[in-house]
Amino acid sequence: MKEQIQEAEGKLGILIPGLGAVGTTMIAGVIASNKGLARPVGALTQMGNIRVGKRTENRYPLIKDFVPLANLNDIVFGGWDVYSDNVFESALNAKVLEPGMLHAIKPELEAIKPMKAVFDKSYIKNLDGTNVKEAASKYELAKLVAADIKAFKEENGCNRIVIVWCGSTEKYIEPSAVHETIESFEEGLRNNDPAIAPSMIYAYAAIKMGIPFANGAPNLTVDIPALIELAKETETPIAGKDFKTGQTLMKTILAPGLQARALGVRGWFSTNILGNRDGLVLDDPDNFKTKEVSKLSVLEDILQPDINPELYGDLYHKVRINYYPPHGDNKESWDNIDIFGWMGYSMQIKINFLCRDSILAAPIVLDLALFMDLAKRANMSGIQEWLSFYFKSPQTAPELRPEHDIFKQLIKLQNTLRHIMGEDLITHLGLDYYQELVEAL
Ligand SMILES: NC(=O)c1ccc[n+]([C@@H]2O[C@H](COP(=O)([O-])OP(=O)(O)OC[C@H]3O[C@@H](n4cnc5c(N)ncnc54)[C@H](O)[C@@H]3O)[C@@H](O)[C@H]2O)c1
Repeated sequence: MKEQIQEAEGKLGILIPGLGAVGTTMIAGVIASNKGLARPVGALTQMGNIRVGKRTENRYPLIKDFVPLANLNDIVFGGWDVYSDNVFESALNAKVLEPGMLHAIKPELEAIKPMKAVFDKSYIKNLDGTNVKEAASKYELAKLVAADIKAFKEENGCNRIVIVWCGSTEKYIEPSAVHETIESFEEGLRNNDPAIAPSMIYAYAAIKMGIPFANGAPNLTVDIPALIELAKETETPIAGKDFKTGQTLMKTILAPGLQARALGVRGWFSTNILGNRDGLVLDDPDNFKTKEVSKLSVLEDILQPDINPELYGDLYHKVRINYYPPHGDNKESWDNIDIFGWMGYSMQIKINFLCRDSILAAPIVLDLALFMDLAKRANMSGIQEWLSFYFKSPQTAPELRPEHDIFKQLIKLQNTLRHIMGEDLITHLGLDYYQELVEAL
């Protein structure tokens, strides 16, 4: 497989629908890193190591030296938004990064202006930007997005393009007949079917062109049979959904540990306050429902109450998000966890995480863009389950349950990288060389 991976030659265009807090923080971080002003902390592709070979070999290269990824200096950014603010203005509004840092890279950020968005207010009531495309049908809108991508690629001399959705959370919808096949979906695009969300229109345009598409919001987007089928047909990598940051990141770190020690969990109450535009959008119950479904699935899956009803059968799990403007992007979350141990004695764990949502999400966007580009060059198409590590609600083949345990997700990601580079997979068994070491004594 290693021999078949195309080199990461020339420029990589990263296109982002939704140039808000997360998107602009990621772009600013890459530009600042290229200028030596900041370090891309949290991005496995930039700062992570991977063990290769046996433990006795002591080989721990950086991931970027192990697999052929696009270089940060070879990236060009673009995107779409319903507001016409350029990336500098949008990043200032988002108030994630210090103005001093933004001013140091102002010319580069100002040059990135959002293209007109595909937008439908019925999917996001709390936004009303005017930088929006107009066309007679959703099919025509998809054609306009495809034309944007083509023009961006030519104007910027890009060899390859990837798309990562960083747009707002759309209202909750369930898959229906129009999402079932490519034919029904295309007919729905022509008939303006209300069940086709804006994010699906971008995704359709991208996948049709063979451009990798990752979804950072909890929207259905590419998680429908029609787009999965189209991705197979056009040999396009797809992945989703909902970046795993903040509270859910903590949950998927802690819950596997409790379960590993056979400790019981009776209740897990999670509450959040946040004051950015994401918080405003999630203040609408229809949009919150999309997020809630994504956040709730995590614990059930890790603890598996059906397999172990005695420890987890009565688990009460509640998630709350409240819009609280004074906190801006600095989200605060509280978790109260009621656990029980030996002879049923109860204990409590309290977590108060003062996090910065976009600081946690930005490296995920970068890693996803670079790994999706790698997947495309390695001829890996369809659902990229090995990237579950980055998602709250990982997309899997319909018949499979998703894996939420962050440590299993990491093993899968690393073994996938080893596999595509023709290295031995690591099972952590180690018996073969243990024996050799013992015999050498
Ligand atoms: N920050 C995190 O930690 C985190 C974690 C998981 C998921 N997410 C998701 O990532 C997304 C972005 O988060 P954010 O904090 O940057 O939000 P944000 O509100 O700052 O940015 C979203 C941007 O998307 C734009 N937008 C909405 N609909 C659009 C469309 N149809 N086309 C183009 N642009 C559109 C909005 O105008 C806005 O500028 C949200 O869906 C959020 O739920 C964020």
